[in-house]
Amino acid sequence: MSVRRLHDVQPAGFKFTRENMAWAKTEVKKYPSGRQASAVISLLWCAQKQNGGWLSEPAIRHVAELLAMAYIRVYEVATFYTMFNLSPVGKNLVQLCGTTPCWLRGADDLKAVCRKMIGAEKTITDDGELSWMEVECLGACVNAPMVQVNEDFYEDLDAATFEKLLDDLRNGRPVSVGPQVDRQKSAPVGGAQTLLDPALYAGKARRVPKKAAATGKPKETPARKFVLKAPEKKATAKKPASLTKDPKKLTKARAGGADDLKRINGVGPKIEGILNGLGVFHFDQIAAWTRDNVDWVDEQLSFKGRIDREGWIAQAKQLSREDKGK
Ligand code: FES
Repeated sequence: MSVRRLHDVQPAGFKFTRENMAWAKTEVKKYPSGRQASAVISLLWCAQKQNGGWLSEPAIRHVAELLAMAYIRVYEVATFYTMFNLSPVGKNLVQLCGTTPCWLRGADDLKAVCRKMIGAEKTITDDGELSWMEVECLGACVNAPMVQVNEDFYEDLDAATFEKLLDDLRNGRPVSVGPQVDRQKSAPVGGAQTLLDPALYAGKARRVPKKAAATGKPKETPARKFVLKAPEKKATAKKPASLTKDPKKLTKARAGGADDLKRINGVGPKIEGILNGLGVFHFDQIAAWTRDNVDWVDEQLSFKGRIDREGWIAQAKQLSREDKGK
């Protein structure tokens, strides 16, 4: 992916409207406390919409402040995902698919129309109505070539229909979304092409086996038997003796309260709850886990090696040392 930078000219500021701010707060509440950063993409999307289809630097900063995230983290998200436009766009932003299926079916002709009617890629027409950019596959290859304009797909285009479409959009005339030829969604052009024989639907097309046809008696096909198999039992993981007998395994947290296990990278509120349920409340317990302990806990959490990959034990040792040094 090419480098994506912020636009040279930036507005003085950005703030969510009262309505968008209320929406943003509801969005943030969907995530557990301390995990508000999970709302970053939806908030950036809302900011982009409010800002006329692109993300300005003050808009990115506003979202970072709202989510108490470092500005650079939000900047990284905004510049990584191509759904975020980093420079102004026209009222109708045309995203033209240039990937192989669309290219083979005439995407180059559509590009020529864009250049003729709008100008070079990423320019905006003088009336502010149109701008265009080339994008990768938009998932409608069966109806190639196609473009997306704002949130709608226009498919099965050729130079003439596309030119008319742009002209209609520019002049506010109604347009028809979806395929621009005689087809319903992704069905064949002109309607159904198979299973058209009416006999198929009149009960007359039953096939008679050759032998039976000679005697005139159709041979009955024996009914298929379906045997219900008992579901395979999942082997339940046995607690290794080392964990069950571990003197550090607790029924509840020690006096002073449980450690905040979420400080371990990879442990969220849900996993912390499960660990507490397994009798693990403190960093020093995790720091003392044996190989058997790790395998057993890994299995309880269906983690497939994540404890090792994320280095929980090393993290727990470090956190335990830090807390003791306080
Ligand atoms: S290649 Fe154009 S939509 Fe998939």
